[in-house]
Amino acid sequence: MRQHIVAGNWKMNTNLQDAQALVSEITNMVADEVTDSNVQVVICPPFPFLTSVGKLLPEGGRFHLGAQNYHHKESGAYTGEVSAQMLKSVGVEYVILGHSERREHFREDDQWLSQKLNAALAVGLKPIFCVGESLETREADETFNFIGKQLQDGVFHLSKEDFAKVVIAYEPIWAIGTGKTATSEQAQEVHAFIREQIAKTYDAATAENTTILYGGSANAKNAKELFSQPDVDGGLIGGASLKSRDFTEIIKSF
Ligand code: G3P
Repeated sequence: MRQHIVAGNWKMNTNLQDAQALVSEITNMVADEVTDSNVQVVICPPFPFLTSVGKLLPEGGRFHLGAQNYHHKESGAYTGEVSAQMLKSVGVEYVILGHSERREHFREDDQWLSQKLNAALAVGLKPIFCVGESLETREADETFNFIGKQLQDGVFHLSKEDFAKVVIAYEPIWAIGTGKTATSEQAQEVHAFIREQIAKTYDAATAENTTILYGGSANAKNAKELFSQPDVDGGLIGGASLKSRDFTEIIKSF
């Protein structure tokens, strides 16, 4: 069975006290209420809180620490940046890559993302690679071409062995932070397309084993229907991950 993952992308939110309270509430609720052993939970706080939040994650269980970004170089004169190795050294296991907000605000292109992907894999971090189209692209009926190109230019250069370490997240830009969630049919259609492209590039087994997450206004009300789709293996959650009850309900939605 494919690994189910619910990842919380806290984005640029919380402070140290709130971050510690939030992760403690989540881990307590999940311990009491979640019995599905196949669900892994990834918590992605802002950089300053990685160590503090990581210390509050139960050892060896379903919880894993994730980061929202890093620089692809190992070290050097890159003021303000953080390397993949630094993240590894504080217990980070997953890294979000290619998020539409970073592609937009920081001009991260597919070439740069390939370098970041390679840097993560080089130190043993597991990338959560984001793809997703704009409303204009969808309305122009170009979604599959656009996402196919993001996969081709961003991740399909990897060997089969390295690709097997990658989680894919489909995050339609028009659904991020808007409250306009993709319908379960829309999500399933794109997830099935992504899995088909993986099968064509590598093989059926690799496609079958790849975890593909949905992100974009997923919440406690719509998660169950989204996660019931055959090619939806969990979620990359923004706003709802900042509310312990909602995030726990999403984790319970498989
Ligand atoms: O990375 C997840 C995020 O982009 C989705 O945000 O607030 O629509 O769940 P949100």
